Amino acid sequence: MDNATWDDTPIAAAAQRAAWIRSPRTPQLDKPESPRLITVSNQKGGVGKTTTAVNLAAGLAHAGMKVLVVDLDPQGNASTALGADHSAGTPSTYEVLLGELSAHDAMQQSASHDNLFCIPATIDLAGSEIELVTMEHREYRLAAALNEEFLAEEEFDYVFVDCPPSLGLLTINAMCAVNEVLIPIQCEYYALEGVGQLLGNISMIRQHLNPELHISTIVLTMYDARTKLAEQVAAEVRNHFGDVVATTVIPRSVKVSEAPGYGQTVLDYDPGSKGAMAYLDAALEIGGRGDYRPADGSDDPLGVAPADG
Ligand SMILES: Nc1ncnc2c1ncn2[C@@H]1O[C@H](COP(=O)(O)OP(=O)(O)OP(=O)(O)O)[C@@H](O)[C@H]1O
Ligand SMILES: [Mg+2]
Repeated sequence: MDNATWDDTPIAAAAQRAAWIRSPRTPQLDKPESPRLITVSNQKGGVGKTTTAVNLAAGLAHAGMKVLVVDLDPQGNASTALGADHSAGTPSTYEVLLGELSAHDAMQQSASHDNLFCIPATIDLAGSEIELVTMEHREYRLAAALNEEFLAEEEFDYVFVDCPPSLGLLTINAMCAVNEVLIPIQCEYYALEGVGQLLGNISMIRQHLNPELHISTIVLTMYDARTKLAEQVAAEVRNHFGDVVATTVIPRSVKVSEAPGYGQTVLDYDPGSKGAMAYLDAALEIGGRGDYRPADGSDDPLGVAPADG
C-alpha cells in the first residue's frame, strides 16, 4: 500500500494531524509588537465564547506565544477547561477586580503548557457586578490590573478575557481593559440576534470609556457542514461583516465539547481531531494577520484588513 492510500484512512489522517500539532515543527508565530489583549464577547449564551477563548489561547501557546486567559465569567468555564483550580477561596479575578490581589498573584500556570496561564473565576465573582457599582473607577478595575508593567514583566504576547453572556459591569471591565473584541458567532438560527445590540454597546464604550476598542475578529463556530443552514449563516455573516470574519471556520465536533470534562483544551485532549486542527489554524490565522483596526477616522467599530503596503 503506498502512502497516499494510507493517508486516505481517517485514523491515519488523524494521527498525521496529531503528530503535526505535537511536533516542534508547528509553525511558530512572531511575537506581536506589543501584547494583544482580546475580549471574547457575545451576550448571546452558548455561542462558543469560552471554547474559543481557551482553544485559541492553547493554539497560540503551541505556536510559541506566552498567553494569559482571564476568566471573567462567574460560571468559571474557562478555568475548568484549562484545568485551573477555582474552588471557593482560590485567588481569582474577584480579588483582582477588588484590588486585593495583583494579576500576578492570582494567575496559575496550565498543567499542559508552560506558556499558558489562567486567572480563574470562582463563585465569588457572581456578587461582584453589584459590589462594583459603588466602587471608584468601576469600569477600569481590570484595566488597572492588566497594566503595561504587569504585561511587560510577564512578557505576555496575548491576553484573552472570557466574558459572561451579558453586558453588565464585568463585560464593561473586559472592554475597558483591551483594544480588541473577538465575537464568536454560532452557525445556527438567530445567529445574528443581539449582535446589533452588541455592536451598539461597543460603539458606546468606544465613545465614552475606551476609544481604542474595536472588533478585530469574528469567528464562526459550531459549523455543521452537513446542513445548508450553516452554509447560509456563514455566507450572511461574511457578507455583513467583511474582512474581520476569520477565514478559518470552527466545525461542530464532539471532541471539542468533551475536552473541558477532562480539564483540557481540545488541542491537548485530542490533537488529531478536526476541532483541534481548526482552533490551531484559527490561532495561526489570527496571530499571523494581526489586529484588524477600523479605517482611519471611521466611527464604525468594525476592523478592516490593512491596506497593502
Ligand atoms: N465546535 C464545537 N463543537 C461542539 N460543541 C461545541 C463547540 N463549541 C462549543 N461547543 C459546546 O457548546 C456549548 C457552549 O459553548 P461555550 O461554553 O464555549 O459557549 P459560551 O458562549 O461560552 O457560553 P456562555 O454564554 O454560557 O458563557 C458547550 O457545551 C461547548 O462544549
Ligand atoms: Mg462561556
